[in-house]
Amino acid sequence: MASIADLIAPGVRGLTPYQPGKPIMELQREYGIDHVIKLASNENPLGPSPRALEAIQAALTDIARYPDGNGFGLKQALAKKLDVALSQITLGNGSNDILELVARGFVSAVDEVVFSQHAFAVYPLVTQAMGATARTAPAKNWGHDLDAMASLVNARTRVVFIANPNNPTGTWLDGVSLLSFLKALPGHVIAVVDEAYFEYASSADMGAPGYPDAVQWLAQLPRLIVTRTFSKAYGLAGLRVGYAISHPDVADVLNRVRQPFNVNSLALAAAEAALQDIDHLNRGVQLSNKGLKQLTAALTEMGLPCIPSVGNFVAVEVGAQASRIYDDLLREGVIVRPVANYGMPAHLRISVGLPEENARFVSALGKVMAARS
Ligand SMILES: Cc1ncc(COP(=O)(O)O)c(C=O)c1O
Repeated sequence: MASIADLIAPGVRGLTPYQPGKPIMELQREYGIDHVIKLASNENPLGPSPRALEAIQAALTDIARYPDGNGFGLKQALAKKLDVALSQITLGNGSNDILELVARGFVSAVDEVVFSQHAFAVYPLVTQAMGATARTAPAKNWGHDLDAMASLVNARTRVVFIANPNNPTGTWLDGVSLLSFLKALPGHVIAVVDEAYFEYASSADMGAPGYPDAVQWLAQLPRLIVTRTFSKAYGLAGLRVGYAISHPDVADVLNRVRQPFNVNSLALAAAEAALQDIDHLNRGVQLSNKGLKQLTAALTEMGLPCIPSVGNFVAVEVGAQASRIYDDLLREGVIVRPVANYGMPAHLRISVGLPEENARFVSALGKVMAARS
């Protein structure tokens, strides 16, 4: 009789599951530490808008019913905000879901998918799951090297993934370079511009002049898919809501492979309400931008190089002992993110928390690094 291992689909055979940040309760269980802070998954420390919580409360009475499989209310609100047609929007169970829909809708085992070294971990995962070939372009200064990526595009390329800004590096591409790269792609290539951290990077006080809004390019680039999420700046990571904006024909393909009820009714209601609370959104973004400066300044003062970031996180070089420092920080009740699996074994990625959480991390890091020196 064949073993289970013999039965695995070829693309899935070599897959290892996505490694999420360590949950707070797990650390509490393992180490018996009460006061744990988690700066490991680029979440919003301010939490969601109170309006989102009210909307969830109101939607609770109806959870015996299936959600609106078309997500009409949320799509309508997004279409209005982004000035696009309803038919251009696809909703996902987080934007991860959308990335997978892109692979399932467009990529087969004979195709190639191009992305950058140190790019978001889900791109290689969804590529491999389809049994397709990943072509990884070497990074430049930790960021995407568009020339190197362009040189990997060939007749077999079906999808190019670009995170702007990228996670875990926080690096970003300016509009002029990115648009000219996208315009030069051949007609058989679907380009995904992943804007999970758009609200941070595009904010005036982030200071990233020339950071583009790729949605503006959809009219001239019918093979472009822009992805965004409610998990970061909107503080709804636990509910899993993301979306794609694309040409309606592309959205039609994504919808063919989408599960009928991939976004639940509480998530739909909360996301729609959260979109309306601009003040809360701005407060969270400003808090994060200030915290990013606080963290970067403190780390730089400790002599630790930070990769300049426009997200709500920063990758800091702590040296060859990064994984031990990560463990030591856990014992101090501080969860950060090791990024050796991104080809960055000397770095740790720190999500921006509340000011007091950032300060606690800095002091814990100082303590564990002093103990190891
Ligand atoms: C670059 C990037 N894209 C997409 C995602 C997926 O987020 P979600 O599925 O919560 O929308 C993340 C999450 O960390 C990310 O960093």
